[in-house]
Amino acid sequence: MGPGLALLGLGSSLGQRERALELAVRLLARAPGVELLRLSRAWSSRPMGEARGGFLNAALLIRSSHSPRGLLGLCKAIEARVGRRVSPRWTDRLIDLDILWMEGIRRSGPGLTLPHPGLAQRDFALLPALEIAPELRLPGTERCLADLPPPRVRTGCAPVGVLVAGSTLARAIPAAYPQPRPLHPLSAQGPAMKIFLDTANLDEIREAHSWGVIDGVTTNPSLIAREGRDFVETIDQICEIVQGPVSAETVATNWEGMVKEGRLLAQVSEHVVVKIPLTIDGIRATRVLADDGIDVNVTLCFQAAQALLAAKAGAAYISPFIGRLDDLSIDGVQLIEQIVQIYMNYPDLNTQVLAASIRHPLHVAQVATAGAHVATIPFSTLKKLVNHPLTDSGLKQFLADWAGVPDPDVAGAVERFLAKRDKR
Ligand code: E4P
Repeated sequence: MGPGLALLGLGSSLGQRERALELAVRLLARAPGVELLRLSRAWSSRPMGEARGGFLNAALLIRSSHSPRGLLGLCKAIEARVGRRVSPRWTDRLIDLDILWMEGIRRSGPGLTLPHPGLAQRDFALLPALEIAPELRLPGTERCLADLPPPRVRTGCAPVGVLVAGSTLARAIPAAYPQPRPLHPLSAQGPAMKIFLDTANLDEIREAHSWGVIDGVTTNPSLIAREGRDFVETIDQICEIVQGPVSAETVATNWEGMVKEGRLLAQVSEHVVVKIPLTIDGIRATRVLADDGIDVNVTLCFQAAQALLAAKAGAAYISPFIGRLDDLSIDGVQLIEQIVQIYMNYPDLNTQVLAASIRHPLHVAQVATAGAHVATIPFSTLKKLVNHPLTDSGLKQFLADWAGVPDPDVAGAVERFLAKRDKR
């Protein structure tokens, strides 16, 4: 048969989901008899049936010279290459490649019905498809995809990012289609990563706060002790300055003591977040305080399973200490990636990943890439985020060149221009 258009649906709910989707698309790009035309954004959707992981879905429009059976065989081969294991229907899978529609073809038969019955019924199939190909005609009818009524099965499907960064696909897809950018996991669904200052030093907090980029502060007993000032006064003053979440840590070791200290600390200011260590008593105290409506930052987290437990206990934040792991040759950033993935798998967990024990600007970029909700940064590191020798030398050169122009006074020149324009 001659080449015709085909619409494919891609889905993944296990492991590195965006990588699985990207790999499947790249393998399709290389397959004989396939030309990629349009790729939708990545959409997230809640799992159906037995599946537990949140799905990442996308739609892909191709031109293909394959028959329906031939294309189905190709899709199965690519699923196997990506690493899919045989699994029952409606369970989690690393990759799912479905043929949703083929130009002019209507068929029902074992293993393949076209158009796919789910295309019109399921939001995770129809919404990505509408994004790239609303004009596709439903065979045997006058209607196209855009004429279909809203899908019956709703899984909260929403776009979360664009697939494929700098790959062969970027060149394979014509420029008219969305330009590839890396898919930003988790935080692409919410606001930008917050920056907390990791200090109890009021001068540092005032200075950083004046820059207008600080969202909150974290302290711990060591940081408070270092300042040699009254603990509660210090917390109160920090809250006054930042007007955002300020972590104040309990020091009791039993859950009753933690709850008592936590309830009292929460009364110091509405901005206080009670910081509790990740012990059994800490988990128990977190549950009690969270049920009281008090925000808890569960601290001293060094493995992903601890983070799962803290989230189940209702923590508002989990603080994995990445620098202290790096010190032991254990990859701290990988822990952030793991926790972000776990929380993303279970949208009913509302805990924010607060990357702590950050040592340098690279850590900040890495945890932002991993999708951490917050990074808490010492003041010395915060200053380093700004510095780059090429910025300094570039600015020096700009100023030297500008000094040679006849009228170097920018403000004066703009004021004169505006006054002249107002008179016209
Ligand atoms: C913040 O909540 C932590 O207490 C802090 O980031 C620990 O950092 P450190 O490992 O540099 O002491």
